[in-house]
Amino acid sequence: MEEDLDLLQEATEEAEAAEDSRALYEVKMKFLGRTGKVTALLKSMKDIAAEARPAFGKKVNALREAIEEKFAAIEERLKGRELEKKLAGEKIDVTMPGKRTKKGALHPVTRVKDQLIDLFSGMGFEVFEGPEIETEYYNFTALNTPADHPARDMQDTFYLEAGSGQKESLLLRTQTSAGQIRVMEKKKPPIKILSPGRVFRSDDDATHSPMFHQMEGLVVDKGITLCDLQGMLDEFAKKMFSETSKTRLRPSYFPFTEPSVEVDVSCASCGGKGCSLCKGTGWIEVLGAGMVNRRVLENCGVDPDVYSGFAFGMGIERIAMLKYGINNIKLLTENDVRFLEQFED
Ligand code: DAH
Repeated sequence: MEEDLDLLQEATEEAEAAEDSRALYEVKMKFLGRTGKVTALLKSMKDIAAEARPAFGKKVNALREAIEEKFAAIEERLKGRELEKKLAGEKIDVTMPGKRTKKGALHPVTRVKDQLIDLFSGMGFEVFEGPEIETEYYNFTALNTPADHPARDMQDTFYLEAGSGQKESLLLRTQTSAGQIRVMEKKKPPIKILSPGRVFRSDDDATHSPMFHQMEGLVVDKGITLCDLQGMLDEFAKKMFSETSKTRLRPSYFPFTEPSVEVDVSCASCGGKGCSLCKGTGWIEVLGAGMVNRRVLENCGVDPDVYSGFAFGMGIERIAMLKYGINNIKLLTENDVRFLEQFED
């Protein structure tokens, strides 16, 4: 029994030989576990003469503590070594060349659309999106463009055959202006909406595409004048093009506005001096606008003697082409990655 009290040496040697904390655990169990050697000593107390017991107990306890201490020290050393090994395995060589991840880019049309929404929501406009398949009524008739009106020719589009029980033929909308009617039918003034979306026409050349995007705006309230429109447009031009941009209104004609204007923005490329982009005029035509025709207000149940309003509509592709110097609208739908990559942030 006495020589068993020398277990410290044996336990230490075995623990020192353990290669990792797993092996050390085995050694620990061998000495301190339920069936371990030290535990057996403690259990053997009952076989010892009562007067020798306290001294023996003291010794065994001291032995256990000494072994535990040794094990703890060895364990700490092993753990430290293992951690070092793990870290060494995870070491990164910062001088290695990195792997470049391709970042996507927003399409220039999406980008300009988002910029416009940002800009106009800052002025209090809310977004309303109308349907792409419209009735003739919303796309033309309610906008003061009856069936025989010559303005319909300028917006020739794609008609869908009328289904059974359907009174009116449907068409792919030619302008987001249809949204003006849908909003005014539902909402009483004050109205301040922005209506972005896809529109369709049978048009096809370097600056026209059968499908393109427009951004419509409509403001209706008491006492709205053309000055409000011009003030808002100045703000729009400065934010969208350049701090020094100016706007100019030219008389024009749209069936749904009276008076109607064509809005020019001073050429950002030459600062208004005249260049090839503005064809020497210093101005670039950017959008159509005007005071909402009283017939349109009446069609929507809004009293034109109480309320007035202005509306505007612009081509998003056109703005993108001006802003980014794109000379062919087809580049925007070809999905050539070499072109699109240039719009990465
Ligand atoms: N809808 C017109 C077009 O597609 C653009 C337009 C002009 C919209 C004048 C308007 C407006 O709201 O007031 O050519």
